[in-house]
Amino acid sequence: MSSERPLKVALFGSGRIGQVHARNILANPELELVLIADPFIEGAQKLAEGTGARAVATADEVFAEDDLDAIIVGSPTNTHVDLISRAAARGVAALCEKPIDLDIDRVLACRDNLRGSNTPLMLGFNRRFDPNFASVQARVQAGEIGRLEQLTIISRDPAPAPASYIAGSGGIFRDQSIHDLDMARFFVPDIVEVSATGSNLFCDYIEELGDFDSVVINLRGARGEQITIINSRHSAFGHDQRLEAFGSDGMLTAGNLTPTSVRKYTAAGAEGADPYLHFFLERYAEAYRRELEGFVQSIRQGIACSPGFEDGLEALVLANAAEESARSGRVVKIGKD
Ligand SMILES: NC(=O)c1ccc[n+]([C@@H]2O[C@H](COP(=O)([O-])OP(=O)(O)OC[C@H]3O[C@@H](n4cnc5c(N)ncnc54)[C@H](O)[C@@H]3O)[C@@H](O)[C@H]2O)c1
Repeated sequence: MSSERPLKVALFGSGRIGQVHARNILANPELELVLIADPFIEGAQKLAEGTGARAVATADEVFAEDDLDAIIVGSPTNTHVDLISRAAARGVAALCEKPIDLDIDRVLACRDNLRGSNTPLMLGFNRRFDPNFASVQARVQAGEIGRLEQLTIISRDPAPAPASYIAGSGGIFRDQSIHDLDMARFFVPDIVEVSATGSNLFCDYIEELGDFDSVVINLRGARGEQITIINSRHSAFGHDQRLEAFGSDGMLTAGNLTPTSVRKYTAAGAEGADPYLHFFLERYAEAYRRELEGFVQSIRQGIACSPGFEDGLEALVLANAAEESARSGRVVKIGKD
């Protein structure tokens, strides 16, 4: 542990992801949780109980705090641009949940606004910090399977979110696939082409809302690498999160996780195992912890956060291209500005 004082942190949002971040901040000796902000003040108060943090309802109260070192933004997507802009203006580091925003024009305006700022800003693409996926990526980079030729990313949620969530989600590409598009860029940063198809296979309210419940995305990297992303809003056997990297000299894979490694072998069947970890809160618990550690390390060592703002922007560009391709049936080229 560092001998420096803990970094003073404020957390925005006391919902699903806010609760994950609160737990991890409290467990990290490098951090002191001083404020929890949520206009739903009862939520902030409940989460702050017994932690020493103060619950507040507004961002003004957060940014009035002296000596604030960092904010963690776990509030709804439409609050992100404003909060990270305010943090940068005050020289306060920020770890912001994905996506930066659903509207690419707002993201580009935010980038212009942040140009020249060297305040640390990390994007919450937590899957880069999953020990299994991170290991596959590092071993591909180290050349263990030769030249990467094909990458397959499978990501299926256990069950669709309610209609109210889907309606404001920005659609499956910007809401769900965006994690996998960032994972693709973790392996192959330069993507030049996107094609996608979308289907409505099982969920009437998703179809009524004009969204897809199942999509497949094909990406092509600058060196011709072929990347396939398969997403579904449901999976009968739990959170299905797998990855396969195929190269000229071999293959690396990362499979689903179960709570234990116990297997049952009887006359009725062999290799019966526990169900997979149910959803992202359990499946990526370690990734969220490591993401926070990475953020602290960037602040302490003055190194650029990774993933950062540009990664958030690039993933949104790819999500928009996938949506365009699925709607038009055309392949979309990705240009660099
Ligand atoms: N990285 C991941 O795996 C992951 C997982 C879930 C959600 N997210 C992202 O996190 C964000 C929040 O999602 P969630 O599922 O936790 O939502 P949620 O609805 O469970 O919680 C959001 C909370 O933010 C509060 N809030 C609303 N406006 C606010 C403001 N201006 N300031 C502070 N708090 C405010 C709400 O009252 C609510 O308590 C979204 O951007 C989402 O995309 C990321």
